Amino acid sequence: MSLEQEIRFVLNRQPTRVSVPVTISALEMIRDKLKLTGTKCGCEEGECGACTILLDGISVNSCLVFAVECDGRELTTIEGLQTKEGLSKLQQAFVEKGAVQCGFCIPGMIMQGTHLLDKNPDMTVEEIKRGIEGNLCRCTGYKKVIEAIASALHGPAEPKPKSFTAETQRTQRESKALRDLGASAVDSLPRKP
Ligand code: FES
Ligand code: FES
Repeated sequence: MSLEQEIRFVLNRQPTRVSVPVTISALEMIRDKLKLTGTKCGCEEGECGACTILLDGISVNSCLVFAVECDGRELTTIEGLQTKEGLSKLQQAFVEKGAVQCGFCIPGMIMQGTHLLDKNPDMTVEEIKRGIEGNLCRCTGYKKVIEAIASALHGPAEPKPKSFTAETQRTQRESKALRDLGASAVDSLPRKP
C-alpha cells in the first residue's frame, strides 16, 4: 500500500484539499483524483506536452511533477482558463482560426500559449515557434496554431500615446506577426528544446 499525503493548493482559483499517494504525478492527480480530464496524457515522459498546465503561472509538463510537489502552489488547467465572461482570448483565437483537428494536443498547446503570451506579449512568430517546440501535434501541423497564438498577442498595459492607440499598436503587431508567418508554411515539426 502506498503512503498517502494530504496536500492543499489553489486549483483554477478554488482552494483544494486532496489526499494523494506520494508516488503519483500531478497529471494522475488532476485526471484520476480530481476528474479534470481536459489535461491529456500522452507520453508520460515529458516529450509531447499534452499534459501542460500552469504551476504558479509557469508552464510545466504535469507528468513530470509529483502531485505532492503541488502542495501550497497555484495550479491552472485548461478548465481554469474560461471565466464567467467566456473563453480566454487565446481559446477564442483557436476557435476562430480553426486551429483544432482531433483536439488531443490542444489543451497543452493553449496552456503553453497562455504562458508564452503572459511572458512576452510582443513575441515574434519565430519566438512562438520556439515556444511551442515541446508541444507535439500528430494531426495536421502547426500553421494554424501559430496563427492563433499570433492573433492573440496583446500589448503591455501602458499609457496610450495621443495619436497612436494601444488598439492600433496591437493590430499592427498582429499584422506583422501574421505577415512574418506569411507564405512560409510551418511544414516541419517543432523540435524539442
Ligand atoms: S504526457 Fe506529459 S509530456 Fe507527454
Ligand atoms: S489536433 Fe490532433 S494531435 Fe493535435
